[in-house]
Amino acid sequence: MADLDDIRDGKDFGLGQAAENDGFYLKGSNNLDWGMKDRLSRIFRPETGRTVMLAFDHGFIMGPTSGLERIDLNIVPIAQYADCLMGARGVIRSSIPPTLKKPVCLRADAGSSILTELNHNVIIDIEDAVRINASAVAVMVGIGDEATEAKTVANLYRAADTGNKYGVPVMGVTAVGKQMARDSKYFGLASRICAENGAHIVKTYFCDGFEKVTASCPVPIVIAGGKKLPEMEALELCYKAIDQGAAGVDMGRNVFQSDAPAAMIQAVSGVVHDGLKPEQAFELYNTLKSQK
Ligand code: R5P
Repeated sequence: MADLDDIRDGKDFGLGQAAENDGFYLKGSNNLDWGMKDRLSRIFRPETGRTVMLAFDHGFIMGPTSGLERIDLNIVPIAQYADCLMGARGVIRSSIPPTLKKPVCLRADAGSSILTELNHNVIIDIEDAVRINASAVAVMVGIGDEATEAKTVANLYRAADTGNKYGVPVMGVTAVGKQMARDSKYFGLASRICAENGAHIVKTYFCDGFEKVTASCPVPIVIAGGKKLPEMEALELCYKAIDQGAAGVDMGRNVFQSDAPAAMIQAVSGVVHDGLKPEQAFELYNTLKSQK
């Protein structure tokens, strides 16, 4: 019970001043609940509406791939430069210090390895994502893959249901089968299907005509970096994706397999958040690299 002595009547009601009623800054997210928006605000910087996610979930399918042999040595030292960390729960729990206080996009499906067929994943329990205090969960969808399309779309659908229940955004990850054309028609289709089935964020790949992919997807798109490229090319990729409507990157190999991962992620961030042109970002990369 509050102390009842000295109860003062309110006197400043801001009469004549309209209540703030701004829309939420992220595409397609204005009608989401408060917890969703709070979590999305941790991932996408409110000042820019964009994000640099550092993806290191590769081991959940590939094992100790190059650049991810030791999460404590490869990822933890550069995590400070990321807006969000994307990983699988075992690695988050075992190797990422909670004291980093970085939002986590939790890989929330499992069941595949490079030794067998990919994409036969099932989703993991949303409660574990809540225990980890995940700011989002990521679920892979195999559009166009006869064996797994229906199951993985259902995974995404269920993840969105439980995500909505607990206020945890879901990122639909468009997996590209070897037989799929990597063009705007395919990525536009896959991204839109993710959003239509409830994804709050979509992760896909850059391609020619990418502006059609982002324009026709009603929620924010982040791009995966894909296979390792020379740094300048990777920065050009980021620049073109942002220029054509991406809300950020979810980049792995082009950061952690770089000669200078800390320099590279800061250069990527310069493109995503500070409007650096690829040449400027590459100069920043070289400067930071020479200082290490
Ligand atoms: C995709 O499903 C993987 O889990 C990676 O998170 C994603 O491909 C991003 O990593 P990279 O930039 O290495 O492609």
